[in-house]
Amino acid sequence: MPIPAPDRWTMTLGEAMYTMRAIRRFRPDPIEESDLRDILDAARQAPNGGNAQPWRFLLVTDPEKRARLGELYHEAWWAKRKDEGISGPEDIPPGKGVRQSAMRLAGEIGDTPAFVLVCATARGAGAAQSVIPAVQNLLLAARSIGIGGTITTLHAVVEERVHELFGIPAEAQVVYCVPLGYPRGRFGPLDRKPLSEVAALDSWDNTPDWLAT
Ligand SMILES: Cc1cc2nc3c(=O)[nH]c(=O)nc-3n(C[C@H](O)[C@H](O)[C@H](O)COP(=O)(O)O)c2cc1C
Repeated sequence: MPIPAPDRWTMTLGEAMYTMRAIRRFRPDPIEESDLRDILDAARQAPNGGNAQPWRFLLVTDPEKRARLGELYHEAWWAKRKDEGISGPEDIPPGKGVRQSAMRLAGEIGDTPAFVLVCATARGAGAAQSVIPAVQNLLLAARSIGIGGTITTLHAVVEERVHELFGIPAEAQVVYCVPLGYPRGRFGPLDRKPLSEVAALDSWDNTPDWLAT
């Protein structure tokens, strides 16, 4: 008997939210279809503008399409770096920083067991903004059953080829490309600024003691 979707997510919301770091290294193990389905089912519960639900969750598991998407992702990642004036790996600071980890992902992403291309069914910022809460639902649901991933974006340079590869109509847009898989490594604590630096009460500069952690 399959577990009804809402009853699957038994990890506490607190644990899911406080440990859901970006996972960029994956084991090759495939994800069960029922798990992928339930993760997308959680995604479609999200709030969205006017309840228009202007989204399409394009799941990619076909090995050839994943490999091709991996090539396009790699090209897009380096196109984004070029826009920032970075021309090659020698310009990326060594160490354990986000950039190194994102660069490694760009090289290996084709081996990821599954992707979700989180698309908006219309172009423009309004439709794109409406898919953002759905991605957070998707990642939290995945986290709660031990599956990791991260939000990534593509680059205009690959847009036409991505649309062609997946039959995405011209009036739609890929907002995020989310690789999903079982982590190599661990979920874990997040590195975030303290609340005292990011929260205020009634006025931009006012952070009372009770609001600071
Ligand atoms: C809008 C958005 C775009 C992002 N784009 C990328 C990306 O293109 N590649 C990538 O590896 N990570 C990407 N990330 C993940 C962030 O780098 C990551 O969440 C951030 O560094 C904090 O790390 P943590 O989530 O592990 O704590 C993106 C996250 C967001 C919210």
